[in-house]
Amino acid sequence: MFAGKYILSPMVRVGGLPFRLTCLDYGADLVYAEEVIAQRLLKCTKIFNETLGTVDFLDEDGGVCFRTTSKESDKVIFQMGVSDPDVAAQAAQMIEHYVAGIDVNMGCPKDYSIKGNMGAALLTQPQLIKKILCKLISVCSKPVTCKIRILESEEETLSLCKEIESTGVAALAVHGRTRYTRSSHPCNYDIIQKIKSVVSIPVILNGASLDINNRSDMTAVMKKTGVDSIMIARAAWYNPSVFRDPEPVSVREAVQKFMKYCIDYECPLHILKYTIGKFRGAFKDNQSSLEVTRHIETRLIYDYFGLGDYYSEVASKRTGDIQEEFQKKKRQKLGEDYKVLQAEITPTILQSFRGMIAPRQILNQWLEANGFSKPKYWTTEHNKIFTGFLQIDNDTYAMEGNFKNKKTATQAVSYAYCLKHHIELRHYKTGARTLPTCNCECKSGG
Ligand SMILES: Cc1cc2nc3c(=O)[nH]c(=O)nc-3n(C[C@H](O)[C@H](O)[C@H](O)COP(=O)(O)O)c2cc1C
Repeated sequence: MFAGKYILSPMVRVGGLPFRLTCLDYGADLVYAEEVIAQRLLKCTKIFNETLGTVDFLDEDGGVCFRTTSKESDKVIFQMGVSDPDVAAQAAQMIEHYVAGIDVNMGCPKDYSIKGNMGAALLTQPQLIKKILCKLISVCSKPVTCKIRILESEEETLSLCKEIESTGVAALAVHGRTRYTRSSHPCNYDIIQKIKSVVSIPVILNGASLDINNRSDMTAVMKKTGVDSIMIARAAWYNPSVFRDPEPVSVREAVQKFMKYCIDYECPLHILKYTIGKFRGAFKDNQSSLEVTRHIETRLIYDYFGLGDYYSEVASKRTGDIQEEFQKKKRQKLGEDYKVLQAEITPTILQSFRGMIAPRQILNQWLEANGFSKPKYWTTEHNKIFTGFLQIDNDTYAMEGNFKNKKTATQAVSYAYCLKHHIELRHYKTGARTLPTCNCECKSGG
């Protein structure tokens, strides 16, 4: 399963379902999903999302922690961040039926990993590594792998790899940099070649993106080092069709494929923007890149890539929002009955209304013009973070986010309501009336 393979490396935020499917379409043999902290997965609820045809593991707030579909189930490897063998085992048992394998991240140098005794913190604790891997292998029906970074000395690195091999893992992915090496520094191919010569399990080389522009570059690295497979991250991010044999397609074409999957599988806007921001040459120039990624309306972004109509068509056919339902049930259980609005609202978006009519006022004028009773606004506060509430007739809506004061929280809930109900959020000059009085047969009678 891990020999002669061209593999997508795990990437937080980037390696969600749409990106993985894009890489598979272009010829990736296996796709490692973005790291999920095992403890987080254990708190998730699994649902079968019939609208999208996916299995979703939802966080307590209804956000998607991990989404997958049968299209990738024999190709996707679930990667976890973990420091406790029992937690690892529980997480693996929760997910193993939906994926092709389980991987443990032993290379992440980020603070949150190190502080949690996960990622690269494990590299100097071979006994703990062995406990985690042996436990996983004993409970899991799917292959278990791990992804490491090299250590400072060759001796330590080779010894660690042999210890890992002794656990019975199906393959070992090695990023040819230490925990302290910058990603702009060359990958150490020599040490990976040596690892290959001392272990007999498949070795997957990682860290070569600086030398990769196409599939034959990947093949050349495999030949040069004698490794079994290659796993790439950044080169795939720049253009996911880098896996394609013999040559990649244009970035624009690859972006379109990726974006179609984003529409099909409801990729959140901030992830979409983050991901296409690195696609090399996706935009005509820097100016249009800035303009497009600043768009706050999803459709406008899709429009730029020629997918506005597809987006509208898919959106219009969708009935029911499973995440919304999930939240509703949860709140009903808690005796609370309000709908949580979903929108990406950054401080920049709200600041853009400075000196203009604010979203709350736009909404008030629209509600008045359309015959609704006067809305009520209020906020709640927890740890200095505010949630905005809005009541319109008998319905209550909430907008949760990192809002630091009452005003921002109420503007945010108004903004999110307008987005959801397609109420135009133009930047009207102060003093303007946002809508002509309604004179159709609708509720307003205006
Ligand atoms: C945006 C981004 C997110 C990443 N997230 C993860 C992750 O979740 N798990 C992991 O093991 N490595 C992660 N990595 C590291 C990559 O998987 C890979 O090891 C590294 O980028 C070197 O490979 P490359 O030269 O092909 O980019 C991430 C890298 C990037 C650029």
